Amino acid sequence: MNALHFKNVSKVFGEGDARVTAVNEADLEVAQGEVVLIMGPAGSGKTTLLSLAGCLLKPTRGQIILNGQDVTGYSEKRLPDIRLRNIGFVFQSFNLLSSLTAIENVEIVLHLTGKNWRDARKVASEKLEELGLGKRLHFLPSKLSGGEKQRVAIARALVNDPAMVLADEPTANLDSRSGQVVVKLLTDMAKKQHKSVIIVSHDSRIQGIADRILRLEDGKLL
Ligand SMILES: Nc1ncnc2c1ncn2[C@@H]1O[C@H](COP(=O)(O)OP(=O)(O)OP(=O)(O)O)[C@@H](O)[C@H]1O
Ligand SMILES: [Mg+2]
Repeated sequence: MNALHFKNVSKVFGEGDARVTAVNEADLEVAQGEVVLIMGPAGSGKTTLLSLAGCLLKPTRGQIILNGQDVTGYSEKRLPDIRLRNIGFVFQSFNLLSSLTAIENVEIVLHLTGKNWRDARKVASEKLEELGLGKRLHFLPSKLSGGEKQRVAIARALVNDPAMVLADEPTANLDSRSGQVVVKLLTDMAKKQHKSVIIVSHDSRIQGIADRILRLEDGKLL
């Protein structure tokens, strides 16, 4: 079974003169445990494609199947729970909550799934330690380096054991060394736990790590 299957998926924004086909008839199958890199110039539809895969956007046309489940017609009300249980997101801008410490940023996901306080704390700290952040558990994001913030974001994305991890330009705000460390950690952990990973980037240094590289141009997957 594929972790993700796009069947002829299109996403159109706006109307009339402002109409943009951000993703144009995309077909895509991502296997379990596979690391796929999607590359393409600015405005080619990368973030839109990832948002569709992560059920943050609904397609205008086509079908999206997540872990064998056709989520295309799901109501907005059902989607947050689908996201919470199936998908981990890593964003370019980290998206950590600034008033919560590293461990609290990770724990919050576990609270949302109903884990009790004690278990959540244990699982979150183990995950952060695995990512080399054992000494940073109680730091606020403002006291962390960019690479550390992105590792907290990776811990948060993986802590719920999602089948699929989606990363939108995860190295764009990092210097090249911490960028490489972050991507290596993300893909190593994903491989170890047999997760599918889709990374969107125009960072050519990531190329060596991916199982497959796809290009996106004007919304078309090549
Ligand atoms: N919410 C929206 N409303 C209208 N148009 C949008 C919206 N989101 C994206 N678009 C348009 O869709 C196209 C693809 O945008 P998208 O953000 O997916 O590109 P991208 O490849 O991620 O670009 P970048 O490399 O700059 O992040 C662009 O032309 C953009 O202007
Ligand atoms: Mg983008």
